[in-house]
Amino acid sequence: MTEYDIAVIAGDGIGPEVTREAMKVLDAVASMYGFKTKKTHYPFGTEHWLKTTEIFPESAFSEVKDKRAIFLGAIGDPRAPVGMIEYGIIAKLRFELDLYVNLRPVRCYDERLCPLKGKGPAEVDMVFVRENTEGAYSGSFGFAHKGLPSEVATQVMVYTRAATERVIRYAFELARTRNKKKTVTMIDKANALRAQDLWTRTFADVAKEYPDIKTEHAYIDAACMWMIKNPEWFDVAVTSNLFGDIITDLGAMIQGGMGIAASGNIHPGKVSLFEPIHGSAPKYAGQNVACPVAAILAVGMMCDYLGQKKAGAAIENVIVDLVRTKRIKGVNTGDHPTDQIGDMVIEELRALAAV
Ligand code: IPM
Ligand code: MG
Repeated sequence: MTEYDIAVIAGDGIGPEVTREAMKVLDAVASMYGFKTKKTHYPFGTEHWLKTTEIFPESAFSEVKDKRAIFLGAIGDPRAPVGMIEYGIIAKLRFELDLYVNLRPVRCYDERLCPLKGKGPAEVDMVFVRENTEGAYSGSFGFAHKGLPSEVATQVMVYTRAATERVIRYAFELARTRNKKKTVTMIDKANALRAQDLWTRTFADVAKEYPDIKTEHAYIDAACMWMIKNPEWFDVAVTSNLFGDIITDLGAMIQGGMGIAASGNIHPGKVSLFEPIHGSAPKYAGQNVACPVAAILAVGMMCDYLGQKKAGAAIENVIVDLVRTKRIKGVNTGDHPTDQIGDMVIEELRALAAV
């Protein structure tokens, strides 16, 4: 029986609670669909840093590198300096494991979850491919005359041809596999960020290799508008790191909220990381009120990535069904006790597997 080595970093705030539900579901699908997992739990996050001053020791990092996949709950806590834990854990994993695709499906499962008037599952069904290793996140920043009235701060957006090309190519490949409009929309701000001309040219070059795929283009500001006005316009969208970060939070809202938005940080063929896109929401930690649906869907994406397609599809189908039949009343904080959702999903998975 295939066994997958999985690293689990539950993290901060509500991370441990949603991770617990997600792992319950992973165990359940593994036994139903005939595979095994070997999970190694790592304690990293703000609590661990406060206790030990350790963020992500190299010894643990080299272990994690050799796993098949990583599951991350949530990180971030106001008790640590802004960005320190985020850069020490999530950004470190993204950069050092070269997880160049941040894959963020935006699919609304039921009209009742969509805040846009008259829009629902038929209109809100797209996937964002966010470049995940460079752009504004490249870590190229600096200060001069710090603390003086003349202080200067810089943050450089870095785009390489290689990283731009591979992520755009991933988007085209993805469009081919989706039974949708066979369209890739590139989102940038090349009219103001002149360096993004590299994106424009690379997109045009890669597009030539995919004559079966239609191309569209939108500047990021207009794309935000279209997401609200005509979300049906999008199929696959590819964009740079910072714009992808921002527009996928907007995407999460039109699919139902942070409680239902999952993501993968992927390097095809290599160890990849799956996480809900929500943060750690420290004020709700430990109260059993966080919504674990996004974390459970991230497990679904992980199964799909591992090649356990049936398990991945079953998880998503069960969530769709529970949402449409209103057994999942809502995906906001407090709509259900956290553990109740995991139990419901497992019960429903069993029922599905029995037919
Ligand atoms: C995300 C998050 C991260 C990001 C933070 C935690 C650094 O917002 O995964 O979208 O900006 O990429
Ligand atoms: Mg974000």
